[in-house]
Amino acid sequence: MSSKGKPRVLLMHPILDPGPSILAEAAEVVPFPANLPLDEANIARAAEGCTGIVSQVMDPIRETVLATPGLKCVSNVAVGFDNIDVPAATAHKVMVTNTPGVLDDATADFAFTLLVATARRVVEADNFIRSGQFRGWAIDMMLGVDVFGATLGIIGIGRIGRGVAHRAKGFNMRVIYYDPNPLPPEAQESLGATPVDLKRLLAESDFVSVHVPLTPQTQHLLSKPQFESMKRTAILINTSRGPVVDEAALVEALAAKKIAGAGLDVYEREPAVHPGLISMPNVVLTPHIASATTRTRSEMSAMAARNMATALRGGRPPNLLNPEVKR
Ligand code: DGY
Repeated sequence: MSSKGKPRVLLMHPILDPGPSILAEAAEVVPFPANLPLDEANIARAAEGCTGIVSQVMDPIRETVLATPGLKCVSNVAVGFDNIDVPAATAHKVMVTNTPGVLDDATADFAFTLLVATARRVVEADNFIRSGQFRGWAIDMMLGVDVFGATLGIIGIGRIGRGVAHRAKGFNMRVIYYDPNPLPPEAQESLGATPVDLKRLLAESDFVSVHVPLTPQTQHLLSKPQFESMKRTAILINTSRGPVVDEAALVEALAAKKIAGAGLDVYEREPAVHPGLISMPNVVLTPHIASATTRTRSEMSAMAARNMATALRGGRPPNLLNPEVKR
């Protein structure tokens, strides 16, 4: 509790309007000191005396932080929460919340953006013009691959995966998907998506788009054997979490032309990017911005602030991930 009688909340990074005003009504907001490395020890030190932490995807919120005396809630400004040790939070009776739903469309739009940009070499073509190499139309210049009518393999058919399938309809794509929890038949039919096993998905897809959370089961879900079973012409799209893809194996597969290209928004050791990827023209790289539209990021900020404010007032936050803490 602060001298102003409000509980203290550690805000790890700035959030967008209306998040700050929602938070300020319920808490005294303490910003994480700029320039301090984002490691557990620093976060734990900054969290001393705080009832809440508003975190983001690059903040490791694990045992050392979660053991902070008096900590009641960690509100992650993201749908993914692999940066938080939820079982440890539950053991310490700390509520954990996330921001599901509001970023589905922006992320599905962006997966499609990467897919088309990689297939049609948009970034390479832009660089070509800017570096003064455009001398006029040529029949064989910047040949890409067709998206319309191609086969799209979606790994993970949650809200974002379904959003990608929905968009693929407009491109007349054949959509197949792999998910250990398949959709009910009516949902499959209305999406036009057929469930297959991972092996078949990899063998038949022209584009493979990944939409799974990072868990021990999905870490390195795509590694050397999986790249070897993909088409040589296939393109991989990843807007989920970097460690789902074995980045070194991906670089090897791209270098050996086992697959044709990749569009990546997430990386195994963010913000580091495998140097092998940087020099490859058949790879489109973006800095974890799939949800980055003004509206979406504002909604994520508001949702995270509301989750925190509700927890601080003794309520049950709408997006509580460990309800057993709040019985
Ligand atoms: C998330 O929400 O998990 C994203 O990675 C950040 O938008």
